[in-house]
Amino acid sequence: MAAPVAENNQQAGNPAQWSSRFAFIMAAVGSAVGLGNIWKFPYITGENGGGAFVLVYLACIAVIGLPLMMAEVMLGRRGGKSPIGTMTSVAASEERSKGWAGIGIMATLAAFLILSFYSVIAGWTMPYILSAVSGDFSGIAAEESGALFGGLLASPGELLLWHSIFMGLTVLVSAGGVRHGLERAVTKLMPALFVLLLILVGYAMTTGHFGEAVSFLFKPDFSALTAEAILVALGHAFFTLSLASGAMMAYGAYLKKDVPIARTSVVVAIMDTGVALLAGLAIFPIVFAHGLEPGAGPGLIFVTLPVAFGQMAGGSFFATLFFVLLLFAAWTSSISMLESLVSYLNEKGVSRVKAAVGGGLVAWLVGVTTVLSLNEWSGFTPLDMFARFEGKTLFDLYDYLTANIMMPLGALLTAVFVGWKMKPEHSAAELGGWHRLWFPIIRYLSPIALLIVFYFNLK
Ligand code: PHE
Repeated sequence: MAAPVAENNQQAGNPAQWSSRFAFIMAAVGSAVGLGNIWKFPYITGENGGGAFVLVYLACIAVIGLPLMMAEVMLGRRGGKSPIGTMTSVAASEERSKGWAGIGIMATLAAFLILSFYSVIAGWTMPYILSAVSGDFSGIAAEESGALFGGLLASPGELLLWHSIFMGLTVLVSAGGVRHGLERAVTKLMPALFVLLLILVGYAMTTGHFGEAVSFLFKPDFSALTAEAILVALGHAFFTLSLASGAMMAYGAYLKKDVPIARTSVVVAIMDTGVALLAGLAIFPIVFAHGLEPGAGPGLIFVTLPVAFGQMAGGSFFATLFFVLLLFAAWTSSISMLESLVSYLNEKGVSRVKAAVGGGLVAWLVGVTTVLSLNEWSGFTPLDMFARFEGKTLFDLYDYLTANIMMPLGALLTAVFVGWKMKPEHSAAELGGWHRLWFPIIRYLSPIALLIVFYFNLK
């Protein structure tokens, strides 16, 4: 057995570490690949007309997302603590205001809030796995499929059950610690996820509509592109790479000194993007083969896809694989959302088990308000007095607050900190040769792009 790694002595500046670069890559890709890639990316691509949107999204990942990921992993490794601890200690060593710890605090809060509703959505995969296994989708009509999904959302009890189980799974891994919990889970789940995805893409190739899906995803039609779509693409680039939520910073803290951050981040971003594109290549051929609507919105996966699975040979089997894939992807993301808080509490002397259980419990409780927003409280839109928030349920508000305010703001502050407040020699020491390319981007391009986003988002 490997020498035990103390997991609760981060105060001594000795955090638990990933055992290898591979483990970090699986953890970071596990965090990045989630509902964002398999549920959200296909449906927002469908809603925004395909190819041109995909191109803008790829540009956002390469030019803004990736440099920010490098910045977060770099800060994490330099600080070697929880995101809050890391920002506190890096700000101190750069002789900057303690206020910069705010980046870590906001990231931890954002991740926590996202976890609260992410768990509810991830929970949907479980009844879908059960329905798929028992063949409920075979021959199902579009209305029936819609009714099935509507029925799930209308039932607080059922939603609560799946939300509780999913949060329990998240806490279970988190409580196990970095090596025995996180690393063990991600190094098994992620390879399984890739295999499942490739099987599904292979299947999609046999539908006869693969070419149509390829041109939908890759042939840009710029007339279909709107200003709104560009904002959606950028916002999604942050979300899908798990940025401004402490996840990459927390994981970076467990990275050994000899792992090259820049190259490793490129691998993570490519894998995340690759999974999103493969998910598109698995889903759209099936959608086209059955004459369904690519722009069906959030119901694309939960309403449209079951109809398609229900019509094909072996559909129950492939539907099961698909929803298991979605569950795995969501699980490895949710454990990274809890990590910022758990590592912080751990630093403050709370054991990992207590921190994971306590954090999970509170996130679960907040999640209950999301469950209710989907049914009993669907008319409860508490911020109606502000035009911007009119008609938004609590769930909509959490989503809006994290995606449109906290994440872009956190990203902007991070870019300003590393681009202007931190000594370039210090970031260069972590990033090596890539620093020359990275530094002007994070110093000028990222803040400007983020300010533009803010302007249009809040206008
Ligand atoms: N990247 C994850 C996804 O695409 C979501 C996520 C956001 C994970 C923030 C961790 C932190 O689903």
